[in-house]
Amino acid sequence: MTNDEKASERLISEKAIQSFNDAPDARLRQIMQSLTHHLHAFVSEVELTEKEWFEGIKFLTETGHKCDGHVRQEFILLSDTLGVSMLVDAINHRHSANATDTTVFGPFYIDGMPERAFGENMAFTPGEAALVRGRVVDTRGNALPNAILDVWQTAENGMYSGQDAAQPFGNLRGRYRTDSNGYFAIRTIVPVCYPIPTDGPVGRMLNAAKRHPWRPAHLHFMIEVPGYKKLVTHLFNHDDPYLESDAVFGVKQSLQVIYEERFTHDDLSAGLDIQLPFRRASYEFVMESV
Ligand code: BEZ
Ligand code: FE
Repeated sequence: MTNDEKASERLISEKAIQSFNDAPDARLRQIMQSLTHHLHAFVSEVELTEKEWFEGIKFLTETGHKCDGHVRQEFILLSDTLGVSMLVDAINHRHSANATDTTVFGPFYIDGMPERAFGENMAFTPGEAALVRGRVVDTRGNALPNAILDVWQTAENGMYSGQDAAQPFGNLRGRYRTDSNGYFAIRTIVPVCYPIPTDGPVGRMLNAAKRHPWRPAHLHFMIEVPGYKKLVTHLFNHDDPYLESDAVFGVKQSLQVIYEERFTHDDLSAGLDIQLPFRRASYEFVMESV
């Protein structure tokens, strides 16, 4: 490339960036100028061919067409698999040192799931019986009664209810509440690892790059307490083979739990509707005030 060619290519980028100079909203101006700057830098760096540019347009078009406005959101999946969702999460949740870590929300949450009693079973499909026990506290360790824990996980076939028409309404989903001492009890099954959907353009991208689509086994939580920041996180099974290579980069060491095998009841399971033997995991969620 001659110096003249280099200068004229640079001029194209500068003009595009400067076209946003007069945007009245300062934040919009900053975002559009930075986006244009980095997009042009990327195109220049890889010297994008016209064929590749058109492939990119086709890929984004198909990503949009794959979204159904309900459970399938291919753009979120794209953001997740490029690590952008976790980066946005990290930037927006630079919380105090002892508050519970956050992770990706994912595309499979459904609002308005049934309220469940302390220790109620939310599993209507088979699996290894599990009890998830714990407490919700503030950063000083004070109990938070009446916290709402919205939880969801896949069935043993790796699919969420809502995504899989064969599962009954509300299967492996529910809204639990902490008691007057901040304790909660969730009767469920041990989560399993599962692949994110691969029947769309994101799946093709993973396959072309020889990346696997698996997420390590986890239970999703969205915890809300008035006066505290909403907590969106997961608890991961500590022994999952995909912890080191989560397709969406969501794993954090602090969010791993052991589902220990229980052959006898103790104070944590006495009186709850669960037969021996079962697996039990425990966790203390620490909420940060707003
Ligand atoms: C999930 O954990 O439900 C999930 C997160 C990101 C992409 C796909 C699924
Ligand atoms: Fe999930």
